[in-house]
Amino acid sequence: MTTQEPTQPTDYAGLFRLDGRRAVVVGGGGGIGRESALALAAHGAHVVCADRDLKAAEESASLAPGLSAYALDVLDAEAVDRAAADLGPVDILVFTAATNVRKRLLDYTSEEFDRVVALNLRASFDLVRAFGRGMAERGRGSIIGFSSIRAVTVEPGQGVYAATKAGLVQLARTAAAELGPSGVRVNTIAPGVVATPLTAQIRAVPEWSAAYADKSALGRWSRPDELAGAVVYLASDASSFVTGSQLFVDGGWTAIDGRYTPPS
Ligand SMILES: NC(=O)c1ccc[n+]([C@@H]2O[C@H](COP(=O)([O-])OP(=O)(O)OC[C@H]3O[C@@H](n4cnc5c(N)ncnc54)[C@H](O)[C@@H]3O)[C@@H](O)[C@H]2O)c1
Repeated sequence: MTTQEPTQPTDYAGLFRLDGRRAVVVGGGGGIGRESALALAAHGAHVVCADRDLKAAEESASLAPGLSAYALDVLDAEAVDRAAADLGPVDILVFTAATNVRKRLLDYTSEEFDRVVALNLRASFDLVRAFGRGMAERGRGSIIGFSSIRAVTVEPGQGVYAATKAGLVQLARTAAAELGPSGVRVNTIAPGVVATPLTAQIRAVPEWSAAYADKSALGRWSRPDELAGAVVYLASDASSFVTGSQLFVDGGWTAIDGRYTPPS
């Protein structure tokens, strides 16, 4: 058995610092991606907010120092490869872009299936491939994808989204296995329910919105900035021995089955 002794005392005060590191946040124009970008920059990284919506990415970039904007539609695989070449040595890749069509399986069209899989799974694969290669060559990097509580627990009307999120977790685990020997870590974050444009349809229905709030141990929805701590953790040396993991930031949703609260 081998152990690795630290050669000098660990700088715990700087454990989460990202000074001198370059990050790309795909989906950085809004929602969880914007907050992730702001949090990474606040810890010293230079952050590129890459988004299909350039105006939104520019708005994110205008909110703090250390941020810039880049137009990228990840449905265009060649553009993903170009971005990996254009954006130089990237240490941290975060991707949040995803979509959902909330319909039961028997009502789903093939076009809707393809659309959800193309963004949630295929584009994630293209990003890991494009950015992971350079990271492996340089011998360091952290890749962070966004799965969901739906990767492990389902409800009617979320089947295809759930399948893509479970697929993303397995893709990330395999990437962790394959890139680990080259010093690249790959993890996913599984949010619960977060108030962003992606969930506007749910929050517009008071009963649905309240039921979701009640399901978590904390009894409420999450704000998008409440995911940012997990992103900084997984990007930084604070998680230097964490790879292939799925970090739940779900307010306790997946810990509780939610059928019934017995009387005390
Ligand atoms: N919001 C939630 O409740 C929730 C819950 C569980 C998991 N998640 C996951 O977290 C991640 C982030 O969710 P969110 O709510 O912040 O999403 P969002 O829809 O608010 O933001 C997604 C961002 O991605 C960008 N984008 C969309 N398509 C793109 C494309 N083809 N190329 C480049 N950029 C594109 C959008 O312009 C937007 O800025 C997603 O993977 C989502 O599945 C969210």
